[in-house]
Amino acid sequence: VDVRIDLGLRTDLSGEIYRQLRRAVLDGSLKPGAKLPPSRALAADLAVSRATVVGAYERLSAEGYFVSRAGSGTFVSDDIGLAGMWPRRVPPSVPSVQGSHGTPSDAPSGAPPGASNGAALRPRAVWSDVQVPAAGRAPDYDFRPGIPDAAMFPYDVWRRLVGRELHAGDGSAGAYGDPGGHAGLRSAIAGHVKQSRGLDVSADDITITNGTQQAVDLIARVLVDPGDQVAIEEPGYQPPRRLFATLGARVVSVPVDDEGLVVEALPARTRLVYTSPSHQFPLGAAMSLRRRIGLLEWAQVHDAAIIEDDYDSELAFDANPVEPLRTLDGYGRVLYVGSFSKTMLNTLRLGFVVAPSSLRQALRAAKFVTDWHTALPVQAALARFIEEGWYARHVRRMRAVYQERHQQVVESLRRDFAGLLQVVDGPGGLHVAAIASPDVDVGAAVRDAADAGVGVHSLARYSTSDSAPAGLVIGYGAIGADRIAEGLRRLRSTL
Ligand SMILES: Cc1ncc(COP(=O)(O)O)c(C=O)c1O
Repeated sequence: VDVRIDLGLRTDLSGEIYRQLRRAVLDGSLKPGAKLPPSRALAADLAVSRATVVGAYERLSAEGYFVSRAGSGTFVSDDIGLAGMWPRRVPPSVPSVQGSHGTPSDAPSGAPPGASNGAALRPRAVWSDVQVPAAGRAPDYDFRPGIPDAAMFPYDVWRRLVGRELHAGDGSAGAYGDPGGHAGLRSAIAGHVKQSRGLDVSADDITITNGTQQAVDLIARVLVDPGDQVAIEEPGYQPPRRLFATLGARVVSVPVDDEGLVVEALPARTRLVYTSPSHQFPLGAAMSLRRRIGLLEWAQVHDAAIIEDDYDSELAFDANPVEPLRTLDGYGRVLYVGSFSKTMLNTLRLGFVVAPSSLRQALRAAKFVTDWHTALPVQAALARFIEEGWYARHVRRMRAVYQERHQQVVESLRRDFAGLLQVVDGPGGLHVAAIASPDVDVGAAVRDAADAGVGVHSLARYSTSDSAPAGLVIGYGAIGADRIAEGLRRLRSTL
């Protein structure tokens, strides 16, 4: 047969001949059994050395595309099993004439049959609803909630601690670790949550995760079957909603008020409730004791589990922040989730779950099948960061910093935004919510603010219905105290 090969760029000639012949076989322009030109003739035709062509033929023979028969030449193999795959949807391999040295085809040579347009496979429908946040430049005046002040992180200490873990010669460095987490880190966290949150737990109760998001993922994998009902707060933190939906759960929204999640509104036959009781996100309420007890009783009666997202209570300004739901749980229904995203850096992706003993093994197995374990050098460094006192020191320092910013923001909102925004004050953390008066167009204000270099979120962003109040969520973790006044002045002018 004639073969058409285009050696436009004249680099890696043998590789290019190999790729173009391979593609011709896969797209059917070289048929099974066809006889290839003798290597000497093709080499002369393409003005390359014979060894260049022989190299390509040998590679194609080794991979099973060609067979060579002593004395009679080289043929396209008869038994590649491609017959059922024609007609092809890929374009013909090379449109040029035999042996031309024109522009090479930009069709992806070497692509598997039928895949060159990249459109053969479709994701499940549920993925079309998930928007991935754009990783753009931070706004000049950054009031986006939930972002800690990365500039104040003690990088020198962290670098030293991670560096200590990155050296050759440690016999365990090449082995996979325990999916539950580094033993030293689990006991450091057990000690820390006992002291800071009054949780009486042991290292064995803890599974280390890549942040809250993976903790919620593991819990859902362990507890939720496709079609099960999962309740989340409205307004509420949205990433878990999307996660539950992609796992096939039916997600229902439950309202919150100034006592937190409205337990009486929980629908029956709910398998899992996701809540942020210490500092409801984004409205800020701490769940009342009456509701806490009500929620635990409800879970017991309905055989449901509760995810307690305690994402920022270590940054609460009160010396005695409200106690975790987990400490009141006599039934073993609460999975307490902690994160280092607010207290350290969200980019480290470090968090943990404290689970009832009945779920421990399954959670570890879920972590194992998902990603085996969180990066060990980082876990070991965090263990030392906690044990050597750096963590407590950093949290203490940042709490004071955020408290000052919080006060600055709240005072300005009360003074300069009266009649426009009503502050919903909470226990502290990294953000404050504000309800807009009815004549404020919050959507337009957020867009105008962005144009003025101010990043701020609307409350609507954390809601999937119109029932949530209109307003703003104003973070102060990522903006220095010296920029708050100007940022709020610009925000004020957009309202
Ligand atoms: C309510 C809530 N939970 C948890 C997190 C932290 O998630 P992760 O630990 O996955 O970074 C955030 C971050 O914004 C949050 O707002």
